[in-house]
Amino acid sequence: MDKLLVHGGSPIHGAITISGSKNASLPILAAALLTEEDVVIRRVPDVSDTNYMVQILTGLGADVERFSGTVRITASEISDTAPYDIVRRMRASVCMMGPLLARKQRCVVALPGGCVIGDRPIDLHIRGLEALGATSEFEGGNVILTAPHGLKGATVDLCGENGPTVLGTDNVMMAATLAEGTTTITSAACEPEVVDLAEFLNSMGAKITGAGTPIITIEGVSKLHGTVHNVIPDRIEAGTFMVAAALAGDGVTLRRVHEGHLVAITAALRKAGHQVHFNNTGDACTVHRGDTPMPVEIVTEPYPGYPTDMQAQMTALFAMTPGSSVVVDTIFPQRFMHCAELKRMGADIHVADGKAVIKGVKSLSGAPVMASDLRASAALVLAGLVAKGTTEINRLYHIDRGYEHIDEKLLALGANVERVRER
Ligand code: EPZ
Repeated sequence: MDKLLVHGGSPIHGAITISGSKNASLPILAAALLTEEDVVIRRVPDVSDTNYMVQILTGLGADVERFSGTVRITASEISDTAPYDIVRRMRASVCMMGPLLARKQRCVVALPGGCVIGDRPIDLHIRGLEALGATSEFEGGNVILTAPHGLKGATVDLCGENGPTVLGTDNVMMAATLAEGTTTITSAACEPEVVDLAEFLNSMGAKITGAGTPIITIEGVSKLHGTVHNVIPDRIEAGTFMVAAALAGDGVTLRRVHEGHLVAITAALRKAGHQVHFNNTGDACTVHRGDTPMPVEIVTEPYPGYPTDMQAQMTALFAMTPGSSVVVDTIFPQRFMHCAELKRMGADIHVADGKAVIKGVKSLSGAPVMASDLRASAALVLAGLVAKGTTEINRLYHIDRGYEHIDEKLLALGANVERVRER
């Protein structure tokens, strides 16, 4: 297993280009199953989650070619059963259900395991697909959905007790593209990744309106055709490097971002006393650490609120911000695994009832720490940039799941990091 050594104390500056969005790529790759024709998807990040998705598509029988960020998929003949041992390793595989069910009238998909950020139920996905006429059963660790007479449009509300569901909205939207009649999803997720998927589906001939709002309407069609699509920039990778710049930077420029997707993150960083400037086309931004960082309270919310995927990174920033900051995660109340590791580095954090209170300290010290989930691991890298000494981040595969070549990007910004390959 690889580990990352982060030698703290080197300020970061310069410019890097943000990769395509992991969380847009995953459902879009799955949506390629909805047609027998060639689909070309560009700017798919080279991370292990997208590699898993490609393996699943291949395992289903699709022909897949991947070269420098582009993935070409031809799903002319496919099975209805996703390969169990790959699916069970990645929660996002759940977004195979919608396209497989629509294409094959049946799907067998492994239930997602839980994960460190909390229980990951799929009851809302099942509710949505059953509303379209599917029947569900659970057997041998799989969920089996069948709709022998095809899917029928319906109105379905997808709000759970923690708000809307991103992949649940994706699943129902994908399935509804080939259903008979019109589907209306209320309490739909509004994330940019949902909008990117809708644009991808419409470029295949689907008829979707309202994506990006809580009410999405899908008029079923009989067939979808091939397409070519560029995936949107990864707003969470961009946010992660924006926080890195606020922690350790004296002028970091991020190219290929989308200003409109970064409003909440930008507002939080400015409120915390840091400088964020976008160019006039909104596709690049420069971040400078502020002279007087300020403590802030962050409460995560569904988009366009502050994203749960960015709360761990902000916690690392607050660890070195004078005063007392607060982070509340309303979406994944258990998502605080990074706090124990940050405390190992000298952070002063108290976690209780889905809330972390962070008292800024004058310095952090490098230590061997354990990565636990994707974003928690990123937070440890950020803390390592400003810690005294060396931080050794083990189980680097957590980071490689969602950050494309993070060590190379940090090196390009002048950070003193090295990836150690361990047998
Ligand atoms: C997506 O996961 C993202 N993953 C997550 O990013 C992100 O944290 C999450 O949305 C929230 O924004 C991808 O897009 C691949 P949800 P998803 O369904 O869709 C509850 C990362 O770091 N819920 O929107 O699986 C759920 O427990 C990852 O890149 C149900 O109760 O999340 C949570 O509390 C981590 N029943 C809330 O809804 C369901 O059937 C939101 O979850 C589904 C979800």
